[in-house]
Amino acid sequence: MTWSAADIPDQSGRTAVVTGANGGLGLETARELARKGAHVVMAVRNQQKAKDAVSDICASVPEASLELVALDLGSQASVREAAGLILREHAHVDLLVNNAGVMGIPERKTVDGYEMQFGVDHLGHWTLTALLLPALLASPDARIVTVTSTAHHIGRAVDPANPHLEGRYRPWLAYGQAKLANFHFGLGLQRALTRAGASTASLIAHPGLSNTDLQAVSVRESGGASQRFFHLLALRTGMSPAQGALSQLRAATDPQAKGGELYGPLFVNNGPPVRKPIFRRLGMSDAIARLWEVSERETGVTTELR
Ligand SMILES: NC(=O)c1ccc[n+]([C@@H]2O[C@H](COP(=O)([O-])OP(=O)(O)OC[C@H]3O[C@@H](n4cnc5c(N)ncnc54)[C@H](OP(=O)(O)O)[C@@H]3O)[C@@H](O)[C@H]2O)c1
Repeated sequence: MTWSAADIPDQSGRTAVVTGANGGLGLETARELARKGAHVVMAVRNQQKAKDAVSDICASVPEASLELVALDLGSQASVREAAGLILREHAHVDLLVNNAGVMGIPERKTVDGYEMQFGVDHLGHWTLTALLLPALLASPDARIVTVTSTAHHIGRAVDPANPHLEGRYRPWLAYGQAKLANFHFGLGLQRALTRAGASTASLIAHPGLSNTDLQAVSVRESGGASQRFFHLLALRTGMSPAQGALSQLRAATDPQAKGGELYGPLFVNNGPPVRKPIFRRLGMSDAIARLWEVSERETGVTTELR
């Protein structure tokens, strides 16, 4: 049986935080969670896009319960502020979808001096997740879903001596590193949760190739030939954002899904969402330990579970 948004169980009474919910996969994730009755905190950067996204969701789901929180994942101060606002309003968070991201852009730094793709895609979500953990742990059977990519296969595990790729930056090398960090973060977090005996589960998902703004932004920012190729490929063969969002929605809501699992499209880049095997297990424990070391050192935030 093909899993679809209709299979999402009732989410009434649940609070979900979705990063990057003002467009693309995040918007569709927020829409379907709201349709099933969740209160959705849309943690987003571009506030005009956010208002349009709220109108868009409300047009299709008039009863949607939505809340906007400003979040720039490229600023640790903004992440802390957003987490503080969420915790002030919500003692319990049932679902966190670490969705927002940038891809294949030229070398840039976040305001904290991190390489932009690693800083936004991973370090921003690292701090957000760590700060929201008390509210997630307070909720029975909460889930954390971190969005990775098939590009994690081209990534190298983060090097503590040069996590920001100084002197060796290439857009795809950096994206691969960032999405491999998402992969290791989701799996490493599940190991930590299991060790702590927590009921909270951490899963990972990838959307295959989906026709969102991701590729257009990378073309606009870089003008690169490979970025233009992927943009064209996504336009021609990519899934719609609604289809692409199904893998992360399944990881987030399927009662059969468990911590430490990966969900993605059946046919690598498209198809219905299914549980996928986890490859690259050799050396994974070391890679996770290095990611934790680097993330704690860079952000000063720990995900230690007591
Ligand atoms: N589309 C695909 O084919 C594909 C494939 C593999 C993986 N993914 C992953 O899927 C996730 C969602 O991407 P998408 O395809 O939906 O792309 P998208 O349409 O470009 O959406 C990206 C989202 O990330 C947000 N974002 C970017 N920088 C941010 C920052 N500094 N702080 C807060 N939010 C920020 C954007 O918000 P603004 O509007 O404020 O910029 C936007 O909401 C990403 O993690 C991406 O790596 C996508």
